[in-house]
Amino acid sequence: MFKIPSQISNIFKNKKVLITGHTGFKGQWLSVFLKKMDANILGISLNTKTKPSHFKLLNLKIKNKYFDISELKKLKKTINSYQPDFIFHLAAQALVKKSYINPYQTWSSNFNGTLNLLEVLRNYKKKVNVIMITSDKSYKNVEQKSGYKEDDVLAGIDPYSASKSAADISITSYFLSFLKNKKNISVVVARAGNVIGGGDWSEDRLIPDCVKSWSKKKTAKIRNPNSTRPWQHVLEVTWGYIILGAFLKKKKKVLNGQAFNLGPNYEKNYKVKECLKIIENYWPNIKWKISNSANKSYESKLLKLNSKKIRKLIGWSTVLSLKQTLKMTAEWYREFYENKKIITEVQLKEYINFFYKKNKIKL
Ligand SMILES: NC(=O)c1ccc[n+]([C@@H]2O[C@H](COP(=O)([O-])OP(=O)(O)OC[C@H]3O[C@@H](n4cnc5c(N)ncnc54)[C@H](O)[C@@H]3O)[C@@H](O)[C@H]2O)c1
Repeated sequence: MFKIPSQISNIFKNKKVLITGHTGFKGQWLSVFLKKMDANILGISLNTKTKPSHFKLLNLKIKNKYFDISELKKLKKTINSYQPDFIFHLAAQALVKKSYINPYQTWSSNFNGTLNLLEVLRNYKKKVNVIMITSDKSYKNVEQKSGYKEDDVLAGIDPYSASKSAADISITSYFLSFLKNKKNISVVVARAGNVIGGGDWSEDRLIPDCVKSWSKKKTAKIRNPNSTRPWQHVLEVTWGYIILGAFLKKKKKVLNGQAFNLGPNYEKNYKVKECLKIIENYWPNIKWKISNSANKSYESKLLKLNSKKIRKLIGWSTVLSLKQTLKMTAEWYREFYENKKIITEVQLKEYINFFYKKNKIKL
């Protein structure tokens, strides 16, 4: 049976891990990784699932609590009674388009939710390692060609990005004002790029929108074919969060209070239309066309991350090429639609083998 190398898995084995946003796209894959390492997981999310739901299909044996993290009392009670050893904070309203439709709810989940977690940590007595997930969109987007570095200005424009920037700033403020001197608390911030992979059926995301059309043999409509993004596979990012958590536990002095970019290793950022042309190789007969109703709301077009810091300090870097990323994504959905198979674990194994061939993690 496949096992994740003990160097990392021993750190999470039998540990209590709290994941906020565990039913979301990344939360599901993160839960699979942590389950494989025998962690005891408690997940907090809203009780809204996509149709179909990868989370439901996985049928993971984990504890679930469904409530809004902008409710401070509930969050406090849950954390204080569960007493986690690790917290992965992912819960957020994560869609830019939805943030224009419902800005208040987006701010409430993304900013107040993070603030509430920080407030609970301020008075928390047990030892805990916290991995705060913000975004590449936290950075002030000046459409620059060189990648953003961790100490660049944070200032998103659209409600999603701005709420993530504000959350990011609140983490630094709480860290410097209250958490820095607490022996029991260790915190890092992780900023990744646009994540793709199997099992995502969210609204208004490129791959899920295409997949929904392709599964019905329809033509997918593409709004912004020339936008570029730091596309990366969900396995790369969720495994990166886990490695960050492991290092935080072992090397608190080096990592505590710092932010890390987890961007792809590619030389360049690819356009939406370039990605679609690659996918055509792995999913025969799919069709797409450029939609006339281009997205008129502001959404940054050029986003690139500089990930030298995490590479240097930890040795983590992405290992999949864009082709492999898109191939794995297409294969996951094709197996689901054509053979009714969920190949999440198969891909996890494939990925870990590949990761250790290319990366040397020294803990
Ligand atoms: N998907 C990406 O490409 C991407 C890129 C950069 C950063 N991020 C960040 O990564 C994290 C996870 O993203 P995702 O793609 O898995 O998002 P998702 O939309 O798929 O899932 C969001 C999860 O958060 C939960 N949630 C939302 N609001 C909540 C609230 N108020 N209280 C409790 N739970 C709540 C949802 O129930 C769900 O489980 C988010 O913080 C997001 O901002 C995502």
